[in-house]
Amino acid sequence: MIRSDIKALAAYHVPDSSGMMKLDAMENPFSLPDGLRDPWRDVLAKVEINRYPDADMAELRGQIAAHAGVNADQILLGNGSDEIIQMILLAVCAGACVVPAPTFVMYDLISHWLKRPVASVPLSADFHLDADQFLQVCAREKAEVAFLACPNNPTGNLWPEATIRKIAEGFDGLLVIDEAYGPFSERTHTHLLAKNVMVLRTFSKLGWAGLRLGYLIGEAEQIAQMNKVRMPYNINALTQASASFLLDHFDVFEQQAAEIKEERERVMAALSAINVVTAFPSQTNFILLRVPDADAVFEALKRHGILVKNMNSARGLLANCLRITIGSKAENDAVLKALGEILI
Ligand SMILES: Cc1ncc(COP(=O)(O)O)c(C=O)c1O
Repeated sequence: MIRSDIKALAAYHVPDSSGMMKLDAMENPFSLPDGLRDPWRDVLAKVEINRYPDADMAELRGQIAAHAGVNADQILLGNGSDEIIQMILLAVCAGACVVPAPTFVMYDLISHWLKRPVASVPLSADFHLDADQFLQVCAREKAEVAFLACPNNPTGNLWPEATIRKIAEGFDGLLVIDEAYGPFSERTHTHLLAKNVMVLRTFSKLGWAGLRLGYLIGEAEQIAQMNKVRMPYNINALTQASASFLLDHFDVFEQQAAEIKEERERVMAALSAINVVTAFPSQTNFILLRVPDADAVFEALKRHGILVKNMNSARGLLANCLRITIGSKAENDAVLKALGEILI
C-alpha cells in the first residue's frame, strides 16, 4: 500500500525540548510585547471560526506586498515557507533539483517525496559556493529547479551577490532564492527577480514561527501558475487575522531582529575567544561552530538544560559542528557560561 521509498524514510524528527532552553530551531526569543497582546486578543476574538478562511487573501497579500515593495499579484502565501517549497516542486516540470551541500534539508526531502531527482554541489571547506560548478551541474543534470538559501542554513554565510547573480543569469530553470534569514543579513535579492528567479521568505524567524506564514515573490504570471497547486484554504483564519494585525506593528519585530544581530556579534566574539572552538561568521540568527567532540558537547549542554542542534551526524563539512540559535541576552550568557565550563 505504502511506497517502499516512503517506508524507508524516517519521519522529520523534532526533539523533545520540555524544560529546556530551546536554541535548536532559529526561533525569535522574544514573546509578543504586553502592549500588543490585548489588542491582538481582540482581533482574534472577532474571527469567525465557523467559516472557512479567506481563500484569496487579497488584503493580506496587499499588506505583505507593500512590506516587500512589490505588487499583490506577485505574492503567494504558504503555511510556512516549507509548504511553498512543496508547491514549487509540484508545479515545476519533471527534472532534477540542484542544491548546494550542505543546505536546508527540506529541498532534498520534499523532492524525494515527489520522486524528483536531486543533485548537490559541495561547498568548499569555508562554505564558498562556486557558481561555475553549480551551473555545470545544472546543465549536466538538465535541472528544472534550484534552491539557494541566502544566507545558507546550516552554515550561516551569505554568498557574494556576484555568485547569486551569475547563477540567476546562467540557469535556464527556476532559481529560488530562499531568504528565510534575510532579516538578519546585509542583503536581499528582489532586484534579481525575473521570469525564472523567485524569492522565498518567511515570518518564522522574525517572531511568528507558531503562526506558520511564508511567502513567495515572483513575476505575476509565474505566481498565478504556482497558485494553482496551493490548497484552497492553506492559511488559517487565525493566522490571517494575526498577520494582518502584526504587520501594522512591524517595527516591533524589526527592532527585535536588530537586537538579535547585536547579540550575534557579541556571542561570536565570545566564542572566537575559546581556543578549541571554530565559530563560522554568520548573517543569520544562529551560529555554526566546530568543537573537538560535538556529540559530547551536545550532551553536556543538554545537562546544562540547553538544547542546540547537533549537526555531527551529517559528517563531511559538518563533522563536529553544532548550530546554536541566538537567544535572549540571558540565554546567550547561559550558553557561553556552559560552553566555558565544558570546553575550557
Ligand atoms: C533556509 C530555510 N528555508 C525555509 C525554512 C522553513 O521555514 P518555515 O517553514 O518556518 O517558513 C527554514 C527553516 O528553518 C530555513 O532554514
